[in-house]
Amino acid sequence: MGHWTLLPGCVSATLLLALAALPAALAANSSGRWWGIVNVASSTNLLTDSKSLQLVLEPSLQLLSRKQRRLIRQNPGILHSVSGGLQSAVRECKWQFRNRRWNCPTAPGPHLFGKIVNRGCRETAFIFAITSAGVTHSVARSCSEGSIESCTCDYRRRGPGGPDWHWGGCSDNIDFGRVFGREFVDSGEKGRDLRFLMNLHNNEAGRTTVFSEMRQECKCHGMSGSCTVRTCWMRLPTLRAVGDVLRDRFDGASRVLYGNRGSNRASRAELLRLEPEDPAHKPPSPHDLVYFEKSPNFCTYSGRLGTAGTAGRACNSSSPALDGCELLCCGRGHRTRTQRVTERCNCTFHWCCHVSCRNCTHTRVLHECL
Ligand SMILES: *[C@@H]1O[C@H](CO)[C@@H](O)[C@H](O)[C@H]1NC(C)=O
Ligand SMILES: *[C@@H]1O[C@H](CO)[C@@H](O)[C@H](O)[C@H]1NC(C)=O
Ligand SMILES: *[C@@H]1O[C@H](CO)[C@@H](O)[C@H](O)[C@H]1NC(C)=O
Ligand SMILES: *[C@@H]1O[C@H](CO)[C@@H](O)[C@H](O)[C@H]1NC(C)=O
Repeated sequence: MGHWTLLPGCVSATLLLALAALPAALAANSSGRWWGIVNVASSTNLLTDSKSLQLVLEPSLQLLSRKQRRLIRQNPGILHSVSGGLQSAVRECKWQFRNRRWNCPTAPGPHLFGKIVNRGCRETAFIFAITSAGVTHSVARSCSEGSIESCTCDYRRRGPGGPDWHWGGCSDNIDFGRVFGREFVDSGEKGRDLRFLMNLHNNEAGRTTVFSEMRQECKCHGMSGSCTVRTCWMRLPTLRAVGDVLRDRFDGASRVLYGNRGSNRASRAELLRLEPEDPAHKPPSPHDLVYFEKSPNFCTYSGRLGTAGTAGRACNSSSPALDGCELLCCGRGHRTRTQRVTERCNCTFHWCCHVSCRNCTHTRVLHECL
């Protein structure tokens, strides 16, 4: 595409160009294409003019659907929030799975999470849930921070809340975050099949988790901190708290079948029709992650499955858990090597103002899967 030069006079023309061109060949496997905008938040191609109109010269925006790009245009400031929320979700995914065979690998380019997103296994479920949660979380917070033009703090909670407290202050706008997430994130999914229902269910599970982890925060008023009256508002959880809950849901995910066996057409309403594969199990609740396919074992490289395998991964030789060499290396064994590391140590603070440290060198033992 070459280098863009932006002249003040051709601002709107450039905007149209940037937002209008959508490659036609997006048919199958368009799941999660919007993840391609992950780096927009840190991109320098994003300019904002005096009317807070976002001028986007970012090629990855062409990965968005027509509807998604309309939503971005209608909510100035939101693109940055969506992209930032996605970045946080990716970091959270990697952190939650850092000790497992599948450690949430990502690749630059349009296929952020690789081939796993076109499958229907637990890992797929987690990716959809955490990225959906990340967007809802980030947008709800951006509203209350005033960085999106079309939303504000949630001021609908008004008046007395209890005998000694009342609603006030600025609540994070979770309703806006959820509604926007349903419109933006879910509209990236196409189809009528089980995979489609699974992805939408897990997207919603992510948003529901953000919502249900919200907490009330209060501030005291009254004579010298006596706290006779409190003002309270609703605060988002940290994304770590959301990630912790979703990781537990990953471990307890429900394997489902298409409940609507009589018909091959499904609608949004029929999301409820996902049935547990084992009839003795309860139907999945809106909080549960669902999947329909067994996970690959992630032990070895497979180009077909898009798995890197665990060779070369660091493992813990004394852990019996998933991060232990036995399980992480899939029984192939591990090699041990020592590494000399130099760290700053014995730091002392000198008034005023610098810190001096000594260099300490020690050896560290590393175990790596064969
Ligand atoms: C779409 O996904 C399916 C299932 O993973 C895969 O077999 C197929 O090759 C993919 N098609 C394209 C065009 O990527
Ligand atoms: C390795 O595992 C053991 C036992 O679970 C644990 O106590 C130790 O902290 C782990 N070491 C590292 C480097 O994580
Ligand atoms: C640095 O730490 C070591 C061990 O922790 C101690 O023996 C030594 O005295 C410390 N050196 C200084 C300069 O504080
Ligand atoms: C510690 O190491 C750094 C970088 O290797 C060096 O610049 C510094 O002078 C060292 N400090 C001491 C106290 O040896």
